Amino acid sequence: MTNKNQSKLAKIASLCKRRGFVFPGSEIYGGLANTFDYGPLGVELLRNIKAHWWQTFVRRRADIFGLDGGIILNARVWEASGHTTGFIDVIVECKKCHKRFRVDHLPQGAKECPECGGEFTRPRKFNTMFKTFIGPVENEASVAYLRPETAQAIFINFQNVVNVFRPRLPFGIAQIGKAFRNEITLGKFIFRTLEFEQMEIEYFIRQEEWKEHFEEWKRLMEGWIVGLGAKQDLLRWRAHTKEELSHYSKRTEDLEFNFDGEFKELYGLAYRTDFDLSNHSRYSGKDLRYQDPVTGEKFFPHVVEPSFGVNRTLLAILFSAYEEEEERVVLRLKPQIAPYKVAVFPLLANKEELVQKARALYDQLKLKFMTAWDSIGNIGKRYRRQDEIGTPWCVTVDFQTLEDDTVTVRDRDTMKQERIAIEELEAYFGEKLE
Ligand code: GAP
Repeated sequence: MTNKNQSKLAKIASLCKRRGFVFPGSEIYGGLANTFDYGPLGVELLRNIKAHWWQTFVRRRADIFGLDGGIILNARVWEASGHTTGFIDVIVECKKCHKRFRVDHLPQGAKECPECGGEFTRPRKFNTMFKTFIGPVENEASVAYLRPETAQAIFINFQNVVNVFRPRLPFGIAQIGKAFRNEITLGKFIFRTLEFEQMEIEYFIRQEEWKEHFEEWKRLMEGWIVGLGAKQDLLRWRAHTKEELSHYSKRTEDLEFNFDGEFKELYGLAYRTDFDLSNHSRYSGKDLRYQDPVTGEKFFPHVVEPSFGVNRTLLAILFSAYEEEEERVVLRLKPQIAPYKVAVFPLLANKEELVQKARALYDQLKLKFMTAWDSIGNIGKRYRRQDEIGTPWCVTVDFQTLEDDTVTVRDRDTMKQERIAIEELEAYFGEKLE
């Protein structure tokens, strides 16, 4: 079973590696700090989370449009957005153990290294955008950055979307994609990594309506993650202090999640005013104002920005779903996002007729649902293995199946079994997954 002294986060990290959700990055070369690779089950979970988000906030809404903008944008974008000068962490380094810390992650006024008590260097400013060069010559003119947020691709495409779709305010543009930050803080598994994915919406509004949209998005953000399985009592909202506010924000609130007794940012909701559109207008020389189709009035819409981290969503969901019982570890994932929906077993692996029948059923179900196959060890062990990765239903083909074409379906949460005809299985799972 599990090590009782480990923190829950450590247990989850260990399960993730052991069962193929998340692997440490570049492991065979000794690793690379703050990077991870998602294994066969992790990638399913990530994709299911993103698909659910897209379904909820883009496909099911008439007022939100999708976008898939570039990771590398014209460097002027980051000047206009303020990231070249404003996307700064202040860091110190311990003179003894050489660990680096973000000053805003240390207790106020801290003078000593929390790891070894060593003295700190003087604070140093550090831009966390990853810099690269386009083409063979590395000079100021060829500088480019990997985007630190998906948001800017939305702002620079604002006019394109308005010209083509003629939306009326309020409306949003949504994007899911990778973002990159040169993070120096180590540890906490996938919580803070060099590359990660964001699911962001820039919701364009009239200035005077920002407060009500802000409150509405708070409700929608929290409702979405709770609906996906995050435990409500582990969530809280926290408003940024003036010192914490990003350079573009007039008000930001973080939805925080309690990981092992410590509340940490899960998502951010920011009132970005018209900062981005008006700056891009100035820097590009293009008029990015919105024209009211009724009054003809031209103005920069204001923006409320709900920003969701995909990887932190996955972590909060695993954290909420993970349970240790006397006999088993179980991930109580919502069936809609579980990596495998169904697992198929032959009761005995050495009975050819059972294996053939089960294999045919596996081949059939796999066309409709993400389905696992397991024929190793006894049925009890196979159930445990599926419980640990969150598979909601296990189907066993036994001797009775050969006579009447029925199978047992065992439910992960209740552990109850029922007998169901093979021809009804697809409808049975389909209904439960709706
Ligand atoms: N466009 C606004 C923006 O980027 P942010 O609060 O810096 O705001 C939004 O980031 C979300 O992106 C965070 O709430 C978090 O979920 C995720 N995120 C940010 N930095 C991250 C990192 N280094 N590793 C993993 N996720 C991160």
